Amino acid sequence: MRKKVTVVGAGNVGATVAMRVAEKGLADVVLVDIIEGVPAGKALDLAEAAPIEKHDSRLTGITGDYNEAKDSDIVIITAGIPRKPGMSRDDLLATNMGIMSSVVKEIAAVAPNSILIIVSNPLDAMCHMALDTSGFANNRVIGMAGILDSARFRAFIAMELDVSVENTHAFVLGGHGDTMVPLPRYSTVAGIPITELMSSERIDALVERTRNGGAEIVGLLKTGSAYYAPASAAVEMAETILKDKKKILPCAVYLEGEYGIKDLFIGVPVKLGENGVEDIIQIKLTDDEQKALNNSAEAVKTLVDDMKRLGG
Ligand code: LAC
Repeated sequence: MRKKVTVVGAGNVGATVAMRVAEKGLADVVLVDIIEGVPAGKALDLAEAAPIEKHDSRLTGITGDYNEAKDSDIVIITAGIPRKPGMSRDDLLATNMGIMSSVVKEIAAVAPNSILIIVSNPLDAMCHMALDTSGFANNRVIGMAGILDSARFRAFIAMELDVSVENTHAFVLGGHGDTMVPLPRYSTVAGIPITELMSSERIDALVERTRNGGAEIVGLLKTGSAYYAPASAAVEMAETILKDKKKILPCAVYLEGEYGIKDLFIGVPVKLGENGVEDIIQIKLTDDEQKALNNSAEAVKTLVDDMKRLGG
């Protein structure tokens, strides 16, 4: 049976996700948006590139009627407004929570066995909304953030040391916001911790740049936020699940006491496979790292409480 990935939101992130899923030959793609014509147009444009890109994924674009998304294996939700310069991800809460809840209601009706990958911001709060609205089990609602933040850290490490990005590995945990927690001790080049390869001043500078990675792009683009790297990160999750690869990746998942955090979505290393989140990996943290993670969890909790006050 062919696999089906539905991508909700045909903006820059959604369209790039659709392109990567198709070009990697992972699945057929259904692109959904509220704007009439745009998802159909982008899907057709991508389908017309297929003979050159050499894939046989079927691409469809739909507006309004979610029937095409029926029985999707994975649904990647990118719908929502993006940041403008000067805005934090949290400023998007009131608008995007309404969008998330209406999208998830539709998806839960037509694809009740799907796995949801949440991309819309503020990420961790949107994961809560998706979990509550869908009624899905915790292992089937997963937020994309840690892979993106870690990829940014890896890119900066590779630039700094003039080494291949393929040699780099990094872990960024916590919420997808200003309090995220890059872990230099667990970030390596060819297996060597970067703490052995760089001064602490340079590491601090790269950590800071990683924390501001999203805002740096928003500042340059001015009319929206990053999309190439966010799309790559979401597609890595989809690929890992579709191929049951059991990769360990940092993702936002619902914690029930792991890392001392309860009833909250937060970024930690997890094992992804055909069942979604198959394991939550608990790594040893120093007191300072745990404090930073708790601080990040506090920030996520405040946002979730705000959402509840707003009626979410
Ligand atoms: C970023 C947005 C997508 O980090 O959250 O670029």
